Amino acid sequence: MAGITPNKRDSFGSKFGVIAAAAGSAVGLGNIWKFPYEVGNNGGGAFLVFYLIFVILIGIPVMTSEFIIGRNAQRNAIGSFKFIKPGKPWFLIGIMGIGAAFMIFAFYGSVAGWTLEYIFQAVKNGFAEKSPAELTDQFDTFVSHPLRPVIWQVIFIALTAGVVLAGVKNGIEKYTKILMPLLLVIILILIIRSVTLPGAGEGLKFLFKPDFSKITGSVILSALGQAFFSLSLGMGTIITYGSYINKKNNLGSTAIQVSIADTLIAILAGVAIFPAVFAFGINPSQGEGLVFVTIPNIFQQMPGGYFFTLIFFILLAVAALTSTISLLEVIVAYFSEEYKISRKKATLYSSLIILVLGVLCTLSNGGVLAEFKIFGRNIWGLLEFTSADILLPLGGLFIVIFVGFAMGSKRVKEELTSQGTFKGKLIPLLMFLVRFIAPIGIALVFLNIIGLLNFG
Ligand code: PFF
Repeated sequence: MAGITPNKRDSFGSKFGVIAAAAGSAVGLGNIWKFPYEVGNNGGGAFLVFYLIFVILIGIPVMTSEFIIGRNAQRNAIGSFKFIKPGKPWFLIGIMGIGAAFMIFAFYGSVAGWTLEYIFQAVKNGFAEKSPAELTDQFDTFVSHPLRPVIWQVIFIALTAGVVLAGVKNGIEKYTKILMPLLLVIILILIIRSVTLPGAGEGLKFLFKPDFSKITGSVILSALGQAFFSLSLGMGTIITYGSYINKKNNLGSTAIQVSIADTLIAILAGVAIFPAVFAFGINPSQGEGLVFVTIPNIFQQMPGGYFFTLIFFILLAVAALTSTISLLEVIVAYFSEEYKISRKKATLYSSLIILVLGVLCTLSNGGVLAEFKIFGRNIWGLLEFTSADILLPLGGLFIVIFVGFAMGSKRVKEELTSQGTFKGKLIPLLMFLVRFIAPIGIALVFLNIIGLLNFG
């Protein structure tokens, strides 16, 4: 029955805890490296305008839908669908989500491990006096080393498992409540450093000046894809976190606040990175190297560089950690609830599977498995494409269809208004977005990604 807690579960203790945890999931490597890079390469401010429109028209409705499903069912990403629509195939959405969580964690954990190596290098001043070419070499040598990236990856997975093991309130909520504000503080420090450099204005122009001539169909679609990945949508993360939200919390406003936090941090990351990139005359479109090569290069050339490099990589690691926590929680919640095993066992087994998949990913990135290809992609590329490009958009599409058409308006409204506690004046607008705008928007992106439609 809607509104009745079916089983005794852990939950978030405060509204701030909910927002910190969900924003922690959303804010990650996607915001701090990929978002500035995409903005810079896709018309700056013009890309930003589309990104913002998509966050509002599609991201917020999908996120609210996930919260509704999770809190209504009070269950994990698969159990929620089974509970709301028993005997129907909707639970397959959850299965896709769990699969995506394993895959994303595998490659995401690899990059997350790199952040630890870079903290380590920063501590021992390992970037000092190095030219951009030497820093590139250092990066390439590290990522293709047969053991080093694997060791850091294992450590990162263990860190994530430690937090998840401690539970929702005493682990996830406790740590994200500290880590998220810390992250904001670190970005603000970096911004002050970056925008006060001579020539910083060029970087800000690059980031914010709208150049609509660069807008094509594919740019618009990549803005939508970025919004999707950045907000952690389409794979049950937000369903799972939604299931820990107190019945009195307003789900719509929570989704809005989390989306604002995610978008704000992405923009702030851009403001921290681009002025420095331009001030030192570095090419802004360096892909992976933008963070791992350019940042050490920039910061070691300026006063206080040792300190700023160190905090930058701590920031990146923190952002990645609060995201991997959410990826693991989706899986652990599923195994512990559906198979009635302890949280400890669920965490251990899931982490081991992630580890095996993750090590394969890492070794396929320039290491011993670099030449091993499936469908023309290495293991990393295959897992990234299948999860981020296929499973997330598909999951998000089915989630809005589920809430819009299958769950029942009465049940959705009860959840949105917290059984009538809130007036819910915006519900008709939200439901219009959930039923029509979001599914159509996502479907267009998805068709473009799998190549059935070509806008650009
Ligand atoms: N939103 C994260 C980022 O921008 O880095 C990535 C992510 C985390 C995607 C968790 C999906 C997820 F479930």
